[in-house]
Amino acid sequence: MNQSIKLLQFSDTHLFADGDGRMKGVKTAVTLEAVVDLAKSVEHEVDYVLVTGDISQDCTPASYELAAEIFSRLGRPAYTLPGNHDEDIPLKQSPLMSGLFNAENHFLAGDWIVILLDSVIHGMIAGRLSHDELVRLDNLLKKHADKHALVCLHHNPVNMRPDREDPVMLKNPDDFFAVIDSHANVRAVIWGHVHQEHFEERRGVRLMACPSTCIQFKPTSTGVTIDEQTPGYRRIVLNADGSVTTKVMRLSALPEGLEVTGEDL
Ligand SMILES: [Fe+2]
Repeated sequence: MNQSIKLLQFSDTHLFADGDGRMKGVKTAVTLEAVVDLAKSVEHEVDYVLVTGDISQDCTPASYELAAEIFSRLGRPAYTLPGNHDEDIPLKQSPLMSGLFNAENHFLAGDWIVILLDSVIHGMIAGRLSHDELVRLDNLLKKHADKHALVCLHHNPVNMRPDREDPVMLKNPDDFFAVIDSHANVRAVIWGHVHQEHFEERRGVRLMACPSTCIQFKPTSTGVTIDEQTPGYRRIVLNADGSVTTKVMRLSALPEGLEVTGEDL
């Protein structure tokens, strides 16, 4: 095949059962609808939608139904993986999610394989990839060595904070990168969780984070705080030669009600 695959990554929607539910003063359903509307207006020929965790803030079935309804407006297959806020509803097993989101944790698209990992630790904000999940990743990369690979998870596998350790990032990044490094076909790793844009390259692999569809965080010397950036999503084009073209797209205005408190989170 010689086609490009276009994905849109949305993350950290933090929805409530109540569509008027607010996080830091922001109605999260309203900002998600605005971000989806933006994507609908500027994106053409989208192949897949990825939702990289923290879909719900209150873990209610109604919040997931709301997410599914809003993402269905894009009219494309949506794949999701869990974030730390999603642990009470195992997305992969929930009958609620079947038919709303695709339950598969990997899929093939053209010359690419897209692998979705579960990095949630029960009861923790920080993440960890289990032995089973690392073996699954290793096996998929081996089995599909002829495909370029995009690897997706919720937690950041690199420390993105200045001058300090990130206590809520992936706890076993060395185990993760040991698997990544042992295969020649991984082209990019993407995540959510950090509510901010990030791009770096490590041994030829692109490492990228995505803004939240609601509030944004800013790394500081003492922690993270609310950033006055607008909600958005990441466009990712997977080219047949293994290259990746990507751009973060954002709303033009800050969400109504945003409380820029300055407190450390
Ligand atoms: Fe998170």
